[in-house]
This record gives sequence, structure tokens and C-alpha cells, in this order.
Amino acid sequence: MKRAAPADPKCPSTGSASDFLPRKIELPALAQAAAKCHGCTLYCNATQTVFGEGPINAIVMFVGEQPGDQEDRAGKPFVGPSGKVLDAALQEAGIPREKTYVTNAVKHFKWEPRGQRRIHSKPSSREIAACRPWLEAEIQVVRPRVIVCLGATAAQSLLGSAFPLTQHRGEVIKDTKWAPNVLATLHPSSILRLPDHDAREAARRSFVKDMKIVAKHLRAKPRRTESAPPGALVSEPSPKRGTAASRPSRAQPAKTRAAHHGRS
Ligand code: URA
Ligand code: SF4
Repeated sequence: MKRAAPADPKCPSTGSASDFLPRKIELPALAQAAAKCHGCTLYCNATQTVFGEGPINAIVMFVGEQPGDQEDRAGKPFVGPSGKVLDAALQEAGIPREKTYVTNAVKHFKWEPRGQRRIHSKPSSREIAACRPWLEAEIQVVRPRVIVCLGATAAQSLLGSAFPLTQHRGEVIKDTKWAPNVLATLHPSSILRLPDHDAREAARRSFVKDMKIVAKHLRAKPRRTESAPPGALVSEPSPKRGTAASRPSRAQPAKTRAAHHGRS
């Protein structure tokens, strides 16, 4: 039996996560505030808010759609089957996941019952928009050099619903308002959904190819106008004197930061 959409009186929401933003935009405070978010009605049927995870100085941020069944139970993003696809591709591309920030466009699991199972249900445009303040705040704090939109929902949230993902997937979009580099690619779950083994393998390879493009941008020296590069990637040649340890404070003006890390 299909569960009816939650009735509003039982599941009040304000219409936007912005009503729940903490005064100070910093990671632990954001995650704590998001745990109490009623910005849309998705909190009613989910176990918990699944906020983003990763180091504050991550140079790359991966944005998925919304937590799945396992993420909803664990309270962590990308720990289920899609996470395994992501992890394998990152490993092949030489990007250590622990140095990345991983989050979702929507922070609560939206699902429909099918027998005993909870089946993923796509978030609406309204829910994506309601949840975007959390994503914006995460971007504001982490300031990644590269943002990777995993699938159409993340691309819709950051690049607009008119963004033609199929034509432009794997392309690096420069100098966006979110980050110096934004790339949109497949969602790992779309690979898992392909019924045919060969098609799955081909999709997996093309996903790895996109991750290698991301890795190349992470290794490249940032332009002077870009924000400072934090901790180096493992696959990078040994860092020059003072890179990771001397990450300048966020309060410093962009110019000083760039000079710190520019070619010497
Ligand atoms: N799919 C997503 O988009 N995000 C997750 O965290 C897990 C699966
Ligand atoms: Fe808030 Fe986002 Fe959850 Fe909706 S999905 S309740 S906006 S955290």
C-alpha cells in the first residue's frame, strides 16, 4: 500500500532551511542545527538528518542527491552501495576520500514503502530549493577548489534546472559563484541501476574518467584568483615547504592567500 504524503498539520515545515541556520556559519554548528531542520516535510519520514562530512580544508566537495536507506540509518553520506562505487572510482583516480568533503543536495532520505523495503523517491524542486541553504553554508565554510555534482539533482541545485547535464557532463565549468571549478557527472546509483553488465562496466569506466579529470584539477596549481589549496593530494609529488601546515587563515584577503601558495 502506498503511504500517503504526510499531512501538513502532523508535519509542519517552514519552507526553507534558512530558518534553521545557526548564527555562526561553521561546520559543527551547522551539522547540529541541520539535525533539527524542519525546512521541508522530508524530516517527518526519515530517521535523521545526514549532513556532509569531511575535513574543513578539503579542496574537493562531492555533492550527491540525498541520503539512501543505509545513509539514513548510519547518519553518514555515501556509505551504502553508491558510496562503494564512489570510493572505488576515487581510489582509481588517486583521490583519497578522507581528504574530500562529501555531502548531498538534500539532507533527508525521501522514500516510499515497497513491501518491507524503503525505495528511494526523487526529491522535488521545492525540496531541493528548501534544503539548499545547508549546501550553500557548507560551500561557504569549506571553500572547495572543485565541486563535483553527482547526478542531476546536485546539478539542479547548484547549476539550475536548465543545466544540460548529458551534454556537459565531465566538463569543468570555470569561475562559478560556488567554486573556481564545478564539474557535473553521473550519479553512482545510475551506474548500479543499469541492468546490463557491459553497460554497467562502460558507465563505471566513464565515471572513473571524470574522477581523473577532477584529480587533474586538484593537482594543478591554483590560479592566483582561486582560493588557497589546503592539504595536498597523496598522489601529488611531495609538497613544497609549508603547504598543508601553513594554510592561511580564512580571514586573510584572497590576494594574500594566493601569494602564499603561488609559484615561487
Ligand atoms: N545517494 C546519494 O545521492 N547520496 C548518498 O549519500 C547516498 C546515495
Ligand atoms: Fe531541512 Fe533539508 Fe531535511 Fe528538508 S530535507 S527538513 S530542508 S534538512
